[in-house]
Amino acid sequence: MALSGKSRRKAETVDLSVFSALESEVRSYVRAFPTVFDSARGSILTDVDGREYIDFFCGAGSLNYGHNNPLIKTHVIDYLASDKIQQGMDMATSAKGRFLELFRDVVLEPRGLDYKVQFTGPTGANAVEAAFKLARLATGRRTVVAFTHGYHGLSLGALAATANSWFRDASGAPLNDVVFHPFDGYYGPDIDTVAMLRTLIEDPSSGLDLPAAVIVEPVQGEGGVNVASAPWLRALRELCTEHGIVLIADEIQIGVGRSGDFFGFEQAGIAPDMVTLSKSISGYGFPMSLLLIRPDLDVWKPAMHTGTFRGNSVAFVGAAAALEHFWADPGFAAGIAHRSEIVVARLQRIAERHPGAFSVRGRGLLQGLAGVDREVARRISRESFSRGLIVETAGAHDEVLKLMPALVGDDETLQRGFDIIDEAVEAAVAS
Ligand SMILES: Cc1ncc(COP(=O)(O)O)c(C=O)c1O
Repeated sequence: MALSGKSRRKAETVDLSVFSALESEVRSYVRAFPTVFDSARGSILTDVDGREYIDFFCGAGSLNYGHNNPLIKTHVIDYLASDKIQQGMDMATSAKGRFLELFRDVVLEPRGLDYKVQFTGPTGANAVEAAFKLARLATGRRTVVAFTHGYHGLSLGALAATANSWFRDASGAPLNDVVFHPFDGYYGPDIDTVAMLRTLIEDPSSGLDLPAAVIVEPVQGEGGVNVASAPWLRALRELCTEHGIVLIADEIQIGVGRSGDFFGFEQAGIAPDMVTLSKSISGYGFPMSLLLIRPDLDVWKPAMHTGTFRGNSVAFVGAAAALEHFWADPGFAAGIAHRSEIVVARLQRIAERHPGAFSVRGRGLLQGLAGVDREVARRISRESFSRGLIVETAGAHDEVLKLMPALVGDDETLQRGFDIIDEAVEAAVAS
């Protein structure tokens, strides 16, 4: 039905009231960033009133190459304009084939990684669900070990491995067959929590059944930017290998370059048995999710785990373009490292200006400014928004300002964003 002139005018002047009137109470980011966004380019979002915002949020890590990246956009537009396959279920399409070839040539082979690729439903939690099911199927065991402060999504299986009680309390059903273990550093730097896990696994009377899988974020994003050290990850790898436990790296947030490498686990020199990827893998913010599987663990029978939307062709096109334009360039990681240095230096200056009030932690372009005062990060986020910058909070008490600027872009916008954060910190601390 064509819009009447009246409703067309309304669409152009849409304001926030339609969201509070009609959209479920479950809505979330619109509360933290209350405006109606309209367009975006690179690291700048513009709302319907023409106000600009610098983006240090990047769609929670799903826009690593910025908004509407022009290099990816041309491929997407050409594809859409040429009547190529859009919805291919899991049939073979040229778009999917091209992505698979590039993923093998640009990502897997140069890193000496050998994985089969499973395309799951479109969101991150779908990849986590597939990983758990497959690990249980392959081992014939049920228990999954997850870590304190971990976040793996909110569908029931994934939610069972998500630690935060805010989310768990909404499950409405038992969250079974996952046990939580302290993440690296949970009891301070001197307690080796992998050694603790080893003791539990090797003691037949510990009460811990031999797990099917261990799932770990090499850097916990939602949990408050908690970094697993390389030796800790290597010890976890060793423990899992010795006991035939499937090691799943959840790279949904830290993967696709956030850590500075393509995968967050690379720095530790390990190869997990399964890897979940989503968020920025499509390059352009399109829904896309996949599970990487050590070939001998790929024990699925045809269509045992299926779903309608596993062949989002335009996402494959964006993903292939991102691999071709960014990751095929050996200099790409150096650009991330350069931007990360700017971010860390600016955060450390804030911490130095307020001794004892903040600590800085993170890897690559996932950095956190942890406030000693639990309220301060939320205030900084609010003050930043009112000054034209989007940055979210994370952690058990939202006590960490989580900075995720785009991996690409100009230094000037990045610095300008931190000028806003500097002002927001002063306002937040003063209040
Ligand atoms: C590490 C990690 N795993 C899983 C998920 C779930 O992804 P999705 O929200 O797309 O289901 C997220 C989302 O933030 C995540 O950060």
